Amino acid sequence: MEESCRCLKVFTMFVVLLWLASLRLASAHVIGYGEQPLSKIAIHKATSALRESVSIQANPVVLGLQGEDTEWVTVDLVNPDPSEDDWIAVFSPADFNSSTCLPVNDEDQEPYICTSPIKFKYANSSNSEYTKTGKAVLKFQLINQRADFSFAVFSGGLTNPKLVAVSNYISFANPKAPLYPRLAQGKSWDEMTITWTSGYAIDEAVPLVEWGLKGETQTQSPAGTLTVDQNSMCGSPARTVGWRDQGFIHTSFLKNLWPNSVYTYRMGHLLSNGSYIWSKTYSFKSSPYPGQDSLQRVIIFGDMGKAERDGSNEYSDYQPGSLNTTDQLIKDLKNYDIVFHIGDMTYSNGYISQWDQFTAQVEPIASTVPYMVASGNHERDWPDSGSFYQNTDSGGECGVLAETMFYVPAENRAKFWYSTDYGMFHFCIADSEHDWREGTEQYKFIEHCLASVDRRKQPWLIFAAHRVLGYSSNDWYAEEGAFEEPMGRESLQKLWQKYRVDIAFFGHVHNYERTCPIYQNQCVNSEKSHYSGTMNGTIHIVVGGAGSHLSEFTTAIPNWSIYRDYDFGFGKLTAFNHSYLLFEYKKSSDGKVYDSFTISREYKDVLACVHDSCEPTTLAS
Ligand SMILES: [Fe+2]
Repeated sequence: MEESCRCLKVFTMFVVLLWLASLRLASAHVIGYGEQPLSKIAIHKATSALRESVSIQANPVVLGLQGEDTEWVTVDLVNPDPSEDDWIAVFSPADFNSSTCLPVNDEDQEPYICTSPIKFKYANSSNSEYTKTGKAVLKFQLINQRADFSFAVFSGGLTNPKLVAVSNYISFANPKAPLYPRLAQGKSWDEMTITWTSGYAIDEAVPLVEWGLKGETQTQSPAGTLTVDQNSMCGSPARTVGWRDQGFIHTSFLKNLWPNSVYTYRMGHLLSNGSYIWSKTYSFKSSPYPGQDSLQRVIIFGDMGKAERDGSNEYSDYQPGSLNTTDQLIKDLKNYDIVFHIGDMTYSNGYISQWDQFTAQVEPIASTVPYMVASGNHERDWPDSGSFYQNTDSGGECGVLAETMFYVPAENRAKFWYSTDYGMFHFCIADSEHDWREGTEQYKFIEHCLASVDRRKQPWLIFAAHRVLGYSSNDWYAEEGAFEEPMGRESLQKLWQKYRVDIAFFGHVHNYERTCPIYQNQCVNSEKSHYSGTMNGTIHIVVGGAGSHLSEFTTAIPNWSIYRDYDFGFGKLTAFNHSYLLFEYKKSSDGKVYDSFTISREYKDVLACVHDSCEPTTLAS
């Protein structure tokens, strides 16, 4: 009896362990196994072990003498007592352990270092002989981030850091320079907004943009300025070790633009002595008039993140596809007109220096075409902060950085939903981190956005959100049963059907998948790649594979899933005219097309009633 009892106990324990393991697995999938590399450093536990025998020297001392915003720096390290877990941290500001520190928790001691480095490398990363010779030469690529830099040697690895030596301080010639412009469509079709970052406060210099049609007289427009305060962060690390001053974020509104015209612009600051500080000159093409028949091309993806070109932060570990996607888009810059990055932008997760790194990475794209963003869990989610989800994925940023660093034409940028027009396209961008269900403020917006489009002028109606509110056969959505974010499509599908949404795009799941035209779990059209006439349902496309670690699919493929790809990539829409649309999925590795479909139809096909799309009618005699 006792034996069988013990067996039962062991069996029960085994079942509980299995259940715990499966929970852990499920939560790892939900949260994602990637971890912000800077969060692996226990910087608040750092202690001082300074040794005069260790030397670290950085060169050159002054960066950006020709106006560059990115420079390579050489760091020479000599350490008579080397170890394989020695690492080099890049700090900015350079004076990293004399700033005001607050304990992370009440019971903690005041930390010796209270600021995370902006990046790091192991001392032996470029020289495997380091542990024998004690000598290493490391290359770092730095961007202008409004403050000086220092390089610090730590022993004890990332978890038990001991500060051994600090380098000389280096800085950019003008650390306050206006940098990293990002374009976004304004609230009307003929308005372009330019947002940039600088170190100039408004009582020090007047921010402005000088702009005009290419080759013609340039005019000046004012800019508004926003800042982000440490106490506007919701929690740690954004409020503690991850905090970094973001300087001044300026936005100028260029109005009354001529359609499809090339404009040049540069950002400037008028100093009190009457002189100007200028950025370099950029150019963009203005948006077409809504309904205008011209070639219109759209790039759409989610979850790209950033990575360091100098190999810092365990290169390719956190967002392995990010640089490939960025580089393909830079290479193809002449062949598209607007970009949508639908959430999970930087994955800064409360390490705020990463926003500069991200805006620098996408600068060639965002300074040339409108870079429209949506909010994801890594921008917004924080417990008890009004986000629909109560997880800590934003690292305490609770949306503040995303809504300040990038402009979106929303009524209220803290609620990230908005509509925007691009010629024959009408976009309704939802915010999956706020409630979207029937009866909510966002649901009303979505219905209004879908209902307000004149399909004769703008036949191509696109819905997008970060989380998969439609369909995905990613493994965690499949385990949950409905192949969607819980409660995702239940109230929205009738809107997509009623208003005849052509395509619904999603990110969050890090892969590519395309469905048939679908309504209430049923394929409503048997065609797979050349749709013509009435569509009968919405096509759902997951384009969350732009950079972050990939998500697994289920082994069983649902019958509505037409094409799946476990790889990094992004989507492209091309509207040739009012009746012909092409969608292409391209891999980030080679920029080639791996999946595509076309829609060919006329206005009468959009008007034609399909299941649940028309109100019951009464025939008047
Ligand atoms: Fe996400």
